[in-house]
Amino acid sequence: MSLGVRTEPLRRAPPLLVPGGPYSVAVLLRGYAEPQAVGGAVLADGSVTLVLPQTWGPASSRPGSPPAGDGAEAALEAAARGLILVDTGGPWAREALLAALAGQGVAPGDVALVVGTHGHSDHIGNLGLFPGAALLVSHDFCLPGGRYLPHGLSEGRPLRLGPGLEVWATPGHGGQRDVSVVVAGTALGTVAVVGDVFERDGDEDSWQVLSEDPVAQERSRKRVLSTADLVVPGHGAPFRVIREASQPETTSLENVIQKPRVQDEEPTLHR
Ligand SMILES: [Fe+2]
Repeated sequence: MSLGVRTEPLRRAPPLLVPGGPYSVAVLLRGYAEPQAVGGAVLADGSVTLVLPQTWGPASSRPGSPPAGDGAEAALEAAARGLILVDTGGPWAREALLAALAGQGVAPGDVALVVGTHGHSDHIGNLGLFPGAALLVSHDFCLPGGRYLPHGLSEGRPLRLGPGLEVWATPGHGGQRDVSVVVAGTALGTVAVVGDVFERDGDEDSWQVLSEDPVAQERSRKRVLSTADLVVPGHGAPFRVIREASQPETTSLENVIQKPRVQDEEPTLHR
């Protein structure tokens, strides 16, 4: 691994909740990519992750809070007061996604914003489950009903959704319009949910052949590794980014990773 960092996968099976404030991160489904014995086929699906405001509860909020302004930034900030789903998996995982959401006390109608990291079928195959949510798929942002709003991602500016919560343009894998969601302030530091910017931990042998623009993706990867403490890749276990010079102590995972239902979560986070 470059940049003077090493990485370490979290092997605990999902769902995996990383509590945080003002946002927690729950990895609902772990993506995978399994080469098949013949024909070069790969059996794959993408990771699905939920970002939860600390104040969210099943009965406390639903999508639809009116934005303070009429631009994309205001609409995104309004959506980020509710639940944000990052990628949806493929359509074949529809029932698994519904079950994973239900396991956290979440109905599809509770999701306020769906972010699709890139336009591949194993990442955005269940958008139809969320007709009441705002959608940010690649660089297309629309409100329920199909009202598309311009924003600054294409100029490289991060989209701020809330305190410590941003969408970054991370081009490369699927083209120039891939995005990642970055959540600061969790018990494991800054979490980056990156789609296929990283296929998995230790993907140096394979990511370039899957990339539309390896030069851009290399930049995106370095940017992620320079900021994130935990990366949720598109097709593997979340992995920690460990900067040995600046992190002499390793936080005990057992002390910070929880597997409660969302409604049981206590916002008593120690960072
Ligand atoms: Fe992909």
